[in-house]
Amino acid sequence: MKKEIIKIFDTTLRDGEQSPGASMNTEEKIQIAAQLERLGVDIIEAGFAAASPGDFDAIEKIAQKVERSTVCSLARAIDADVKAAGEAIAKAKMKRIHTFIATSPIHMEYKLKMKPDEVIKRAVRAVEYARTFVEDVEFSCEDAGRSDIGFLKEISDAVIEAGASTINLPDTVGFRLPFEIGAMVKEMSEYTKGRAIISVHNHNDLGLGVANSLEAIMNGARQVECTINGLGERAGNAALEEIVMALKVRSDVFKDFDTHINTKEIYPTSRLIATITGIEPQPNKAIVGKNAFAHESGIHQDGMLKNKETYEIIRPEDIGLDMTDTLVLGKHSGRAAFKDKLGKLGFDLDNEAINRAFERFKILADRKKEIYDDDIRALVTNEMTKATQIYEIVSLQLMDCSEGVPSAAVKIRREGKEIIDASIGGGTIDAVFKAIDRITGYQGELEDYKVKSVSEGKDALANVTVKVSFNGEPAIIGHGLNIDTMLASARAYIGALNSYLSMAGKLKERPHKVIL
Ligand code: KIV
Ligand code: ZN
Repeated sequence: MKKEIIKIFDTTLRDGEQSPGASMNTEEKIQIAAQLERLGVDIIEAGFAAASPGDFDAIEKIAQKVERSTVCSLARAIDADVKAAGEAIAKAKMKRIHTFIATSPIHMEYKLKMKPDEVIKRAVRAVEYARTFVEDVEFSCEDAGRSDIGFLKEISDAVIEAGASTINLPDTVGFRLPFEIGAMVKEMSEYTKGRAIISVHNHNDLGLGVANSLEAIMNGARQVECTINGLGERAGNAALEEIVMALKVRSDVFKDFDTHINTKEIYPTSRLIATITGIEPQPNKAIVGKNAFAHESGIHQDGMLKNKETYEIIRPEDIGLDMTDTLVLGKHSGRAAFKDKLGKLGFDLDNEAINRAFERFKILADRKKEIYDDDIRALVTNEMTKATQIYEIVSLQLMDCSEGVPSAAVKIRREGKEIIDASIGGGTIDAVFKAIDRITGYQGELEDYKVKSVSEGKDALANVTVKVSFNGEPAIIGHGLNIDTMLASARAYIGALNSYLSMAGKLKERPHKVIL
């Protein structure tokens, strides 16, 4: 019997990005979208176009690049949002607008301050307007988990009539238990049968996001919304890798269903997201945690040696994890070993990109004794996600006497010309950033600063993330990677400025930032 496909709707770039500290810049989002396409997700929710110029820019670029997945933008049920979404995805081969409004009594009364009738009118208007941009419109009943089922039916009838083909029922606050989600989905999918696809979007506040999604599939949902590594608002969303592997490993139960996911791309995708966001999955996280395939106890190790199936229900290679490759690179490793490693880590680079990455690898190998997989992932990802380098840090000198005033001298290259200047600051990083501001003439306001070591040891690479607002405009993310934390910080700051300048036109067109 032909299996039914469960559509995988990935919202790592939208709901995932709403995780505190998970912001990504345009180049990083493009890289992630390309990997999600390789993974085989059906729909990529690339962002929320009206949220900020940065979101719009990223969605627009992803729409131009992705070919095999549908590219989607979120939009509140407001004309301006729907228009921004429609414009951002205009060039996509397959496109979808995902519009939503809250349907629970508590959200309608206190958040929206609207009567149910008005909510239906707004939803219908949004869907009708969205259909003027695209054929594929998804409508979400925000907080469906706490909404009245009669009202869910009424609003679904209205939006389906207006042209929505997917009805999403989010458990926005992660409140529901599996049997309750199952009952809601069963009733709604029977009610809308043949008229729309029922989708679920389960948050993980009670740790039930994945269980709720699986129960929904059993009861008629044919689309699940999820994120890599379970990123998302608060406790996150249902994790894509857990849903997909549960469907695969328990195909005896889910025998009628399949997905388009190439599970061998799960691990590379998870590592890419962790490298870019700096948010590591917890070590004991199912499927992709560092310990997910580690067998510590003697009894387990003994069993594994006799027959792997004693303690292993998933083969690491099924998710693209090569447990046999323990090769650590160092300064004597040649280009061939490096290239081989890139292939094993899931990077598909042309010769020129391999050469550039190899150059950076050699510089690092001179200063760092052992280079681990995560170092290489960070190095290559950093190289691939750089904005056009309008400004480039050449060197940095710090003069920080513990009793004195922190000061820094920075040399920057622009169009082949080197400029040097110095500044004092409240602290060393402040002095570095102020010196950069003096040279470039842009006033940066640092909104967030984060430093993470990439691998272990005293010589670990520092991965610095900054969030900077230039000239009072919406903040931009920048990343810098170096053994020297201060140099990594300077590079992150310049990276943010380069991203800002490369989308300066967009900022003028769309200067407002919206908070969801
Ligand atoms: O959790 C939620 O309700 C959402 C909607 C916008 C789909 O993220
Ligand atoms: Zn959500």
